[in-house]
Amino acid sequence: MKPPPSSPGAHPASSRVLLFLLTAVLVALVIYLVAFPNNFKLQVGPPSASCASGGSASSSAVQIAGSNTAVDLRVLIGIVTVPGAYERRALLRLAYSLQPRPVRAVVDVRFFLCRVVKEEDRILVALEAITYDDIIELDCTENMNDGKTYAYFSAVPRLFAGEPSYDYVGKTDDDTYYRLAALADSLRGKARRDAYHGYLTPCHWLPEKQYMSGMGYIVSWDVAQWISDTPELADQHDDWEDVDFGRWLRKGGRYKNVYNEEPRMYDYWDREMATDVNCFRHEHRADAVAVHKLKDRLKWARTLHFFNATQGLKPSNMYHLDLQNVYHVWCTVNTLLA
Ligand SMILES: *[C@@H]1O[C@H](CO)[C@@H](O)[C@H](O)[C@H]1NC(C)=O
Repeated sequence: MKPPPSSPGAHPASSRVLLFLLTAVLVALVIYLVAFPNNFKLQVGPPSASCASGGSASSSAVQIAGSNTAVDLRVLIGIVTVPGAYERRALLRLAYSLQPRPVRAVVDVRFFLCRVVKEEDRILVALEAITYDDIIELDCTENMNDGKTYAYFSAVPRLFAGEPSYDYVGKTDDDTYYRLAALADSLRGKARRDAYHGYLTPCHWLPEKQYMSGMGYIVSWDVAQWISDTPELADQHDDWEDVDFGRWLRKGGRYKNVYNEEPRMYDYWDREMATDVNCFRHEHRADAVAVHKLKDRLKWARTLHFFNATQGLKPSNMYHLDLQNVYHVWCTVNTLLA
């Protein structure tokens, strides 16, 4: 019994359907590649479902941009960190790539390191730079107690001189989580000269001495340019760098458009902690601009879950991650307050 010989014209109808389907798939693939080239470059996790603000997740921590059609705000956020913080950078990339995109704004998040000297760091950081293109080396040495802040703000105007320049430049720690869409909305409409945005500390006290907390602060581009053009500032340090920074602005006559983001910027707190709430530390709020003191994995996990980064998890037989049975105190409290 031989199978009937197959001839090209044996099933004309089904092969035409097959050909049509193949063409359609190819066309769709080409359109997808043209429209979303980055999705193949850095797919760090499942795209998150839309958040409260309705945005969709970006695929890369390198550039988190809204629709480019009418961008009216460009912000650079520098996370100043050390070479050895590999796990933290991995977490931060996850955290930022799963955020809803800011609307009409570009917020670039980059890691800034002082000169990388150890052999393993030079090699491993090089691999990160190849993979993520989000690493920038500053002209400072790691064991320096002071001077990183000056090195950062003075370098940025030079490093990005040729680009479409940023409206604002910010500096933050690797234990801070900025919510970029909320930040963009908060900066939009604010002064773009002599602007100083962050969390004023000490809270509600000594207004003539207040400065923006090191959790994260942002200045307008002209201020970064002024810092870059004023090398004497590098020697003016007699306190914590962020205190010095506030002093530079006051002395330089640039402490003008000061935007205090209390209570939308704050230190992490939950009910299992031994400490109490106060003016700079409280539970999460849905309109947060930045959360600070994310010192361990549990705090990061709870924070990212609260801000709905886990909503993108698709049902699958491949994993059984219970996201119901997790910390829910904030939801209860927020409901009570509402
Ligand atoms: C997270 O999602 C839930 C359900 O969609 C929503 O009620 C809540 O407001 C969101 N939380 C935040 C912080 O956006």
